[in-house]
Amino acid sequence: MDRRDFVKTCAAGAAYVASNPGALAARGAELRDYPRALLVDELKKPLLAGSLRPNRNYIFHYPYGGTPCFLLDLGRPTANDVALKTADGRGYLWRGGVGPKRAIVAYSAICAHQLAYPTKQISFISYRDSSSPTAAANTIHCCAEHSEYDPARGAKVLGGPAEQPLAAILLEHDPKTDQLHATGTLGGELFNKFFEKYEFKLAIDYGSQRAKRAVDGMTVVSELTNFCQQQVHC
Ligand code: FES
Repeated sequence: MDRRDFVKTCAAGAAYVASNPGALAARGAELRDYPRALLVDELKKPLLAGSLRPNRNYIFHYPYGGTPCFLLDLGRPTANDVALKTADGRGYLWRGGVGPKRAIVAYSAICAHQLAYPTKQISFISYRDSSSPTAAANTIHCCAEHSEYDPARGAKVLGGPAEQPLAAILLEHDPKTDQLHATGTLGGELFNKFFEKYEFKLAIDYGSQRAKRAVDGMTVVSELTNFCQQQVHC
């Protein structure tokens, strides 16, 4: 590699790291790699980070075909390096959002309390940017029993009965193409309990094979309003 190529490579690497603070995360406990998946829009074209509208709820499925996740552009930089714990006391470090503003985050949309999740018919859990009598602004709130999570701090629990944060979905942002990939999870996964609890419903909605099959290659991102007929707000 000549000097010019070396400088170019270094510059590209620096841009990548600036856009992906999690890229240098220590590979500690609670981090699990899954097959890498490109986030695409409903036309199966790569979803560009710049096309996300701040403070909207987007849904995609990862790491399995039947496990929903929130994708959020919070419109402002998140905290960095937030120390969190699973319900059984295992610590991990959430490194922050990705993208030019480090404002893009993703979490499992399965509530860490009793596993409420967005179905095609109804969702009790969502992000909201304004407050209500029962929910604070800029939180992910589950109206089932009012667990509340801070998406700008790794989905740390702010209130309610949940005993651990929502599992984070690891994202990579490519500053050259503005594309996003999901690459793994961080934190307390509840997928086995989720599959046990909702086996029948998931088989109806997704097909029994597809619900538990690992997503590979790409995953479609939709606005929650398109994915789900009714959102419960409380
Ligand atoms: S299932 Fe979400 S608070 Fe109970």
